[in-house]
Amino acid sequence: MKKIGVLTGGGDCPGLNAVIRAVVRKSIQYDWEIIGIKNGWKGLINGEMELLTDYSVSGILPKGGTIIGTSRTNPFKNEGDVKKIVKNIEKFGIDAIVAIGGDDTLGVASKLNKMGIPVVGVPKTIDNDLSYTDYTFGFDTAVSIVTEAIDRLHTTAESHHRVMILEVMGRHAGWIATMSGIAGGADEILIPEVPFDMGEVCKYLTERHARGKKFSIVVVAEGAMPKKEDLTAAQTTQGDNTAHASGESTLITKTDTIDEFGHVQLGGIGNFLAKEIERRMNVETRFTSLGHVQRGGTPTAHDRVLATRFGVAAVELIKNGDFGKMVALQGNKIVPVNIEDAVAERKTVDMELYNIAKVFFGR
Ligand code: F6P
Repeated sequence: MKKIGVLTGGGDCPGLNAVIRAVVRKSIQYDWEIIGIKNGWKGLINGEMELLTDYSVSGILPKGGTIIGTSRTNPFKNEGDVKKIVKNIEKFGIDAIVAIGGDDTLGVASKLNKMGIPVVGVPKTIDNDLSYTDYTFGFDTAVSIVTEAIDRLHTTAESHHRVMILEVMGRHAGWIATMSGIAGGADEILIPEVPFDMGEVCKYLTERHARGKKFSIVVVAEGAMPKKEDLTAAQTTQGDNTAHASGESTLITKTDTIDEFGHVQLGGIGNFLAKEIERRMNVETRFTSLGHVQRGGTPTAHDRVLATRFGVAAVELIKNGDFGKMVALQGNKIVPVNIEDAVAERKTVDMELYNIAKVFFGR
């Protein structure tokens, strides 16, 4: 009999519970015991665990969030934490770990695996920016939520003849903005991969207004940035802050909060855009930030299925002793890939897809 530890790390995401349920149910088939490690790597450092049974995962499939909690803990950041992890793995008799997370959590998983700790990974992030997998679970749900928001913004924008700015998540990659922008028929989609030109954005929106469309919808990913010249102009006109010690330069941040993986808390680019468009075009603008609404609530059917497939496949990796691997979706197949490769480089928006979106910006 094996004892498997499962943990969820980083930002939560619809479908986490579906993975946990699948891991538990498949493991029970093999007569293995499953330990839920609480709050990501933090639980392994502090020895906070709970036994997961058939009963404890009953009814969690459609539930958002994660029943075992999450945190952004980097054990390689604080001296002694890795030693505590090694000790706890021994103390609790854990034979293998299923780490469900994005690039930060899986980056830790990869390092631990290199030290000889048997770990397998499951790719999670609403941002969909993990390499070697076509999709991560949670992304489809986020896109559905944003698309619905765009639909709702359309009717109020049209009634008031306004430009509506919708800021969505996407720190390094604009997958959510691009997909939901296409699905919702946005008039501009601004993403981190392509620094935008304020003049061009306003020119296109002005032309659209001149053609009789007296309203517009702009979707902007939180990590999108204007070109350098516009950034300087923004500082002059709006007096906003810019670069951060972490080097993760952002135009406008709410605070200087930096997490253990060196990420700055983003948010504010939409507000900047709204002010700048209003000033340059002399039209009424409004700004909406969807924030964590995108991460909350029940997963779509697509994400439930993907999460379930990932969970079952992760247990199969353990069964086969295939450690250091992450389950990935390639085409319609779930395949094992090296965690190390998956976290080495971010999967940014496919420019072929962005070019399809651009057909509808008219520029
Ligand atoms: O899960 C990734 C992400 O969605 C990023 O796009 C976003 O910047 C971040 O989470 C914010 O998460 P939190 O507020 O939990 O730190």
